[in-house]
Amino acid sequence: MHITAIVPAAGMGTRLGSAVPKQFIELKGKPVLIYSLEVLDEAEGIADIIVSGSAPGVPVIKDLLHAFHIKKVIDVVEGGDERIQSVRNAFNRIGSADYVLIHDAVRPFITRGAVEKVIRAGISHGAAISAIPVTDTVKSVDANGVVVRNVDRRGLWLAQTPQVFRYSVLARAYEAYDKHPVAVTDESGMVESMGVRVKTVAGSIFNIKITKDEDLSLALLIARTA
Ligand code: C5P
Repeated sequence: MHITAIVPAAGMGTRLGSAVPKQFIELKGKPVLIYSLEVLDEAEGIADIIVSGSAPGVPVIKDLLHAFHIKKVIDVVEGGDERIQSVRNAFNRIGSADYVLIHDAVRPFITRGAVEKVIRAGISHGAAISAIPVTDTVKSVDANGVVVRNVDRRGLWLAQTPQVFRYSVLARAYEAYDKHPVAVTDESGMVESMGVRVKTVAGSIFNIKITKDEDLSLALLIARTA
């Protein structure tokens, strides 16, 4: 069984307002991207890894892989304007795989156990994602910041990565997407829109996505206590 991991790391980090894209920011002397690559490097079942980077980011990533002795990365491909495209460019680079695991470079706090749990569910169900149930009260708010209505949070979950798909399921999702593009922000959305049942696996609140400045402060706290 061959499982390839794809790590999209081609974001420019514009939302953070920092000159350095968030995947390259150092937490306790180690770039954000390296945290999850180290876990994937150690994870049982992952045969190889493909990373996507921006044009200027590709050589930076290659240097980091060398400096931090990451062993399983077989290629660093150029990403696209959207995350979806960056993942797809990496997917196109796969020679042959049975399953594909996708994990955002800006979620540094995955664990080996969590990765292996999603892999097991992906193998049993064909498609599985890490997710956490919504615990806050959810409100729909208009463009002026005024609450329009309450949203029943029962049954609402926040999708995270890792996400694991059977290779053939993801390949079919890309074909369907080309014929009828749907507005989705992750590969699970594409797969769901074909009617495939996607299994959720309980994720962790520590598996944060570093998007805004305050996420970085939180990430530093998590990295210090880990
Ligand atoms: O944009 P967002 O915060 O959702 O980014 C999630 C992940 O996707 C990050 O690891 C980022 O580097 C990556 N990304 C990418 N190509 C883009 C935009 C984001 O690989 N064009």
